[in-house]
Amino acid sequence: MADRYAVIGNPVAHSKSPRIHAEFARQTGEDIVYEAVFAAPDEFEAVVERFRAAGGRGMNVTLPFKHRAYDLASQRSPRAEAAQAVNTLSFGAGAIAGDNTDGVGLVRDLVQNLGCPLHGRRILLMGAGGAAYGVCRPLLDEAPASLTIVNRTPAKAEALRQRFAASTRVEIDAAGYEALSGHAFDVVVNATSAGLDDDTPPLPQGLFAPGAFAYDMVYAETPFLERARHEGALASDGLGMLVEQAAESFYIWRGVRPQTAPVVAMLRKR
Ligand code: ATR
Repeated sequence: MADRYAVIGNPVAHSKSPRIHAEFARQTGEDIVYEAVFAAPDEFEAVVERFRAAGGRGMNVTLPFKHRAYDLASQRSPRAEAAQAVNTLSFGAGAIAGDNTDGVGLVRDLVQNLGCPLHGRRILLMGAGGAAYGVCRPLLDEAPASLTIVNRTPAKAEALRQRFAASTRVEIDAAGYEALSGHAFDVVVNATSAGLDDDTPPLPQGLFAPGAFAYDMVYAETPFLERARHEGALASDGLGMLVEQAAESFYIWRGVRPQTAPVVAMLRKR
């Protein structure tokens, strides 16, 4: 019988993960089924436990449960510890292992798929919520020239800076948007949820250095991406990150690396 996996979230009906993992399974010949599982806010742990008790082998965790998954895991990877959040659960004998593949998904999409190196470059990370937390460590591991964290509520950017400053040689700055005037960046990553409200953070003119790359972790053509293109930057939405984080989860579970480019292309076509 096929091994069972699922994505758990709220909402979850529109998740692309079942389609992505079905495609990975077809491509690699792995015998798995992958479904979407809804959990009411107070039922996350119980729904995970039911899935596991019924023979489930692993789950992806999406909003708003990544912190709860972190608490639920009995073992956590260094990536999960750095992010303080878990998006991949693996069920073993008596143990629940938690990992976080979001950050590596972002970095692989930027560096490998989009040809945007991070080493030695000035990175601006917008946002200081869960999404930003999840990607700080892998971004720093690429040894950029600097990482500037900017947030509407600057105190949260400062808290994020302090969390990572001691464990990296990379210069990290924290700021509010008004402090960005007169500064330019090579890579600008939008980790805010502003795009979901068709909004964009208040960015000053001249933020994008020549040849700059703008990336929105949301899978949508957001006002931020429009603005970046208008100012001459290359720009990408977060579809590749979504597929790459899924591929890393698939690898954790199955020990096989699927090809991601055909899956990104398939999803773009739809
Ligand atoms: P997520 O898990 O998606 O990161 P979150 O933890 O609620 O969600 O964080 C949302 C982030 O988007 C925060 O950094 C938030 O800024 P504040 O901390 O100041 O609230 C940011 N954000 C949301 N809407 C925004 C907007 N319209 N303009 C700028 N930043 C916005």
